[in-house]
Amino acid sequence: MNQPQSVDSLDAAMRLAIEHSYQVKGTTYPNPPVGAVIVDPQGRVVGVGATEPAGGEHAEVLALRRAGGLAAGGIAFVTLEPCNHYGKTPPCVNALIEARVSMVVYAVDDPNAIAGGGAGRLQAAGVQVRSGVLADQVAAGPLREWLHKVRTGLPHVTWKYASSVDGRSAAADGSSRWISSEASRSDLHRRRAIADAIVVGTGTVLADDPALTARRGDGSLADRQPLRVVVGMREIPPEAKVLNDDSRTMVIRTHDPMEVIKALTDRTDVLLEGGPTLAGAFLRAGAVNRILAYVAPMLLGGPITAVDDVGVPTIARALRWQFDGIDRAGPDLVLSLVPHGGQG
Ligand SMILES: NC(=O)c1ccc[n+]([C@@H]2O[C@H](COP(=O)([O-])OP(=O)(O)OC[C@H]3O[C@@H](n4cnc5c(N)ncnc54)[C@H](OP(=O)(O)O)[C@@H]3O)[C@@H](O)[C@H]2O)c1
Repeated sequence: MNQPQSVDSLDAAMRLAIEHSYQVKGTTYPNPPVGAVIVDPQGRVVGVGATEPAGGEHAEVLALRRAGGLAAGGIAFVTLEPCNHYGKTPPCVNALIEARVSMVVYAVDDPNAIAGGGAGRLQAAGVQVRSGVLADQVAAGPLREWLHKVRTGLPHVTWKYASSVDGRSAAADGSSRWISSEASRSDLHRRRAIADAIVVGTGTVLADDPALTARRGDGSLADRQPLRVVVGMREIPPEAKVLNDDSRTMVIRTHDPMEVIKALTDRTDVLLEGGPTLAGAFLRAGAVNRILAYVAPMLLGGPITAVDDVGVPTIARALRWQFDGIDRAGPDLVLSLVPHGGQG
């Protein structure tokens, strides 16, 4: 590193580690997207790293390699507790101990029984350990989907929809293309490029003929394409864009959201982009972990709402969610919600 950057607090160094972890989100399966930063005893950043694709190096090892001898006596900041087991790579705690860092600061405890125990190993070797720094930010951010997967064994489902400000997801004639702005669409394409699968119902395929691919601003295909999943009993015409060669497609002939989720247990990050029928079925089944709503400043009125029946007969039984992010994309609002009182 030519120009070492200085960090003046634990939070600042962890924020840098978080930034690096975001850069590899979607590329590390089955490993978590982790970021690491090594700071020398003078507070200068001397190495950064983020998890490589499966079989590659872990974040700490890359950051230590870049720091070289400057890591000795310094502090390692990692978004996840360093692992303590031999997988495809040796335990990261070994590398930290060998590099003679004086302290390891991490955000989130490793929930994985096999890889966990890193903190104890480090302490036993005389390395100071501090945990929980920006833990909520990491758990709700870069590691959200991976933590859900480790804890439940199921993929994390984000229901994404675009609606007018009056909650309509299509005009009265069924047309829904371009409700959201170009800025929202590029945001969505970036989100798709890190997802493992996109799920829609046959209704969306038949109404809109979407390609369901991740594209760059110039229209070219992103390097990484999510699996496309179509749910429902009806036949899809062979010329449908969702069946083109741009990515793989799975058709699941069911109406049971849990069957869909089970068919995707080898995935971590699933985007539900279906219409109101499928969205309602997933919400009724409690199978949505996050909502991502692109809300456009337009009114459409009419009968096609963002979601059909969600199984709420009266206001006291409303499904309660809370906002965990409110952003802008061009003229639109991007609302992120998680179940009320929980991480989903
Ligand atoms: N603005 C947005 O974000 C957005 C996104 C997507 C779609 N849309 C709009 O939504 C409209 C299409 O709505 P849609 O509701 O037909 O789309 P959909 O929810 O994607 O597909 C509905 C189909 O899903 C299948 N399905 C799967 N599980 C089901 C269950 N538990 N119960 C009932 N059906 C189930 C059924 O297919 P079978 O009948 O084949 O069994 C059903 O007809 C279009 O106008 C489209 O433009 C808007």
